[in-house]
Amino acid sequence: MKSKTLGQFIIEKQADFPFAKGELSRLLRDIGIAAKIVNREVNKAGLVEILGETGETNIQGEKVKKLDVFANEQFIAALSAGGEVCAIASEENDEIIPVDSAISKNAKYVVAMDPLDGSSNIDVNVSVGTIFSIYRRTSLSGPGTLEDFMQRGTEQIAAGYIIYGSSCMLVYTTGKGVNGFTLDPSIGEFCLSHPNMMTRKDGNVYSVNEGNYLHFPDGVKKYIKYCQEEDKASSRPYSSRYIGSGVADIHRNLIVGGIYIYPTTTKSPKGKLRLLYECNPLAFIIEQAGGKATTGSKRIMEIDIKELHQRTPLFCGSADMVDKAMEFMSKYSTTEKV
Ligand code: AHG
Ligand code: MN
Ligand code: MN
Repeated sequence: MKSKTLGQFIIEKQADFPFAKGELSRLLRDIGIAAKIVNREVNKAGLVEILGETGETNIQGEKVKKLDVFANEQFIAALSAGGEVCAIASEENDEIIPVDSAISKNAKYVVAMDPLDGSSNIDVNVSVGTIFSIYRRTSLSGPGTLEDFMQRGTEQIAAGYIIYGSSCMLVYTTGKGVNGFTLDPSIGEFCLSHPNMMTRKDGNVYSVNEGNYLHFPDGVKKYIKYCQEEDKASSRPYSSRYIGSGVADIHRNLIVGGIYIYPTTTKSPKGKLRLLYECNPLAFIIEQAGGKATTGSKRIMEIDIKELHQRTPLFCGSADMVDKAMEFMSKYSTTEKV
């Protein structure tokens, strides 16, 4: 039997939101459309002129890749044309993008996104992704404002990611569990392939860029050593797996169980990942799948957000593994709490 398409699933789930008029459903559909366009280009990378850098640097001081720009444009275009959002925030834009058009006059939502996550993997045929987070606007009318984005992760209405991997998947939550859809290229539709995704309580994979080891807080150093120790009862040593695309690392750990850590380092004292469009949406997904997401001491989704491109350390994945890493942090890194 053929599985349900994303469109069919969204319509069915609309009943979960008694007062919803279908706007959120349409917004998720628009994200699905942009994802298919980006996937098409990612699949052709190498054949068409989409690899490499643009020569520019973004506000984060990172080199911008052509595919970063392409993905950003596609998602902005799809979201603006859809009429359900009054502002967009993106990793690739210093400021928010207010949406001011006739069709977006009554738009209730704002979307924050990382259009292309794992940029360093674009040129080498390794999975990349897109991350998105949806909030209800707090401003009353007109184009959205920066204030609309200054909400805690707990206020997210929906969040998800798309992974452009050996197959293309869209995974999202509206706070009622996590569902994963795989793009069936023969019909051009995302089809429900991973209903009600749950992560393991415990796992045996740890994902961290160990090249930065010397610059990690002591708690993380000690936890990594703990992961490497021999202990039959807890199946240690754990396996180390690090792709360098947060979406791909977290997607794998969600499926097989594991922990992903991007801690503070002496070079990035606030961490590297961004709260609004990387950590909060991923945290929402992970928590909905039964896992945990923290800064090493606090729940990610309860952090106050003060700036658009705010950074935070991230410890996320299987609940028992995150608890253990936090235990090491509180024991050995008490002065480094973020
Ligand atoms: P982006 O490509 O959007 O800038 O994000 C990359 C992030 C994340 O996806 C990944 O896990 C991490 O940065 C990799 O960083 P390192 O190369 O420092 O390990
Ligand atoms: Mn990213
Ligand atoms: Mn990015």
